[in-house]
Amino acid sequence: MHDIIHQLDEKRDKARLGGGQKRIDAQHSKGKLTARERIEILLDEGSFEEWDMFKEHRCVDFGMAEQQIPGDGVVIGYGTINGRMVFVFSQDFTVFGGALSETHAEKICKVMDKAMQVGAPVIGLNDSGGARIQEGVAALGGYADVFQRNVMASGVVPQISMIMGPCAGGAVYSPAMTDFIFMVKDSSYMFVTGPDVVKTVTHEEVTAEELGGAVSHTTKSGVADLAFENDVEALMMLRRFFNYLPLNNREQTPVRPTNDPADRLDYSLDTLVPDNPNKPYDIKELILKTVDDGDFFEIQPDNAKNIVVGFARMEGATVGIVANQPMVLAGCLDIKSSIKGARFVRFCDAFNIPIITFVDVPGFMPGTAQEYGGIIKHGAKLLYAYAECTVPKVTLITRKAYGGAYDVMSSKHLRGDVNMAWPSAEIAVMGAKGAVEIIFREDKSDPEKLAAREAEYKAKFANPFIAGARGFIDDVIQPHETRKRICRSLAMLKNKKLENPWRKHGNIPL
Ligand code: COA
Repeated sequence: MHDIIHQLDEKRDKARLGGGQKRIDAQHSKGKLTARERIEILLDEGSFEEWDMFKEHRCVDFGMAEQQIPGDGVVIGYGTINGRMVFVFSQDFTVFGGALSETHAEKICKVMDKAMQVGAPVIGLNDSGGARIQEGVAALGGYADVFQRNVMASGVVPQISMIMGPCAGGAVYSPAMTDFIFMVKDSSYMFVTGPDVVKTVTHEEVTAEELGGAVSHTTKSGVADLAFENDVEALMMLRRFFNYLPLNNREQTPVRPTNDPADRLDYSLDTLVPDNPNKPYDIKELILKTVDDGDFFEIQPDNAKNIVVGFARMEGATVGIVANQPMVLAGCLDIKSSIKGARFVRFCDAFNIPIITFVDVPGFMPGTAQEYGGIIKHGAKLLYAYAECTVPKVTLITRKAYGGAYDVMSSKHLRGDVNMAWPSAEIAVMGAKGAVEIIFREDKSDPEKLAAREAEYKAKFANPFIAGARGFIDDVIQPHETRKRICRSLAMLKNKKLENPWRKHGNIPL
């Protein structure tokens, strides 16, 4: 018996070494941690239960039969983050470059299946050279098995991908179907085809970092949600991020006790909106002054900055924030910001997270670039997302709410539950100047008359009371009482029940 126990320890020690000390050193020399070191940082100390430590690949071609490394390049199991259950897979680059074999894929599928059954999120730590080349189609089949599970798990349990090394070719499509993609700067990249193929096909010369590094994907493509400096920072932030999420689609959002009073007034908000309607102000100031303890976890801060999205808490419970940003493109909605907003709204809706929307939007972005790029379809995504959404929706218009964009931004008409406005709100088809130039075209050559018409239009429409008179706005509130009024609204909505009619699935414009 003693011998067998000893053997087990030996086998475990061997498996823990992955591809061997030399390759572990090489991993460290690139500033990267190993698969197991990453799990240790991510999960609560001592909470990790590992599965399939002894699993081996079945490939016999190209000399692979002689190359067996227990665990086959991915560490899987479950554990806790701040006491809450999570399933993890962490690819081990020291074993065949973390390449995905049939058995490697089976391991990933095992945690995904169990996560769905028990209702806990899945975190993937990706660091892989792609499909295991020696295995051919068996490895490709493995990818597809993972993809299928990504889709089945979508909207059931949160799925988060942390890209911590290479992720190329077919490998990108599993993270692409998860809810959030985070990346580590300088050591990770994602692309469908690498720089060499790009050069052959399009004659473009580009480095891996430029093509698919963390900065490119968080500023240009919008594929990734956040970029971090190194492995340790990335994993610590992932722990923080995890605290906002419910474990599955049947759970309420987690609550973290706070000392920030729900009725806290902030008089500085009374002067946040400048007198000049064309002058910008930072909507993030309103967010930070409204949410618990000024704590806001922004998603995609460097992509489509004209809309701000992220997680915060109100009276301890997670909320999603969507806000137009007047500092960037005057807060206009364009293709990128509509997509960014829509995806965030749908995540919140899938996981019972109430949405607070701060509106200051002069409309959709004009121009051929936007029209040819399909702003009609992409703008419709945000509209669709808000309209199908059944979680509590609280909307506050701070200033402009013009045209179709007024409708889109969680308006009463899209089943907004509580819609409020500051006295500075202007709810109209368009700004006064543009409106007057169209409806009083005959006065075009008479600037005095035009100015008088503009003043008349402003007095009539550049306020929240017309909408208030129709009940489209439930109340016009003092800016300083914003937090109090939103907290009360959310408390009232806590047990909201609203269901959409049965259907196989909707057909969101893609
Ligand atoms: N299948 C099998 N083995 C792979 C692999 C793959 N897809 N990708 C990497 N490896 C192995 C390498 O042979 C190497 O093995 P060794 O340590 O025994 O020498 C080890 O993983 C590390 O790879 P290496 O190339 O030395 O690391 P690197 O950091 O210099 O480069 C990559 C990393 C990912 C850029 C490079 O390995 C690569 O281009 N891999 C192939 C990518 C690909 O085309 N995948 C298939 C498409 S999905």
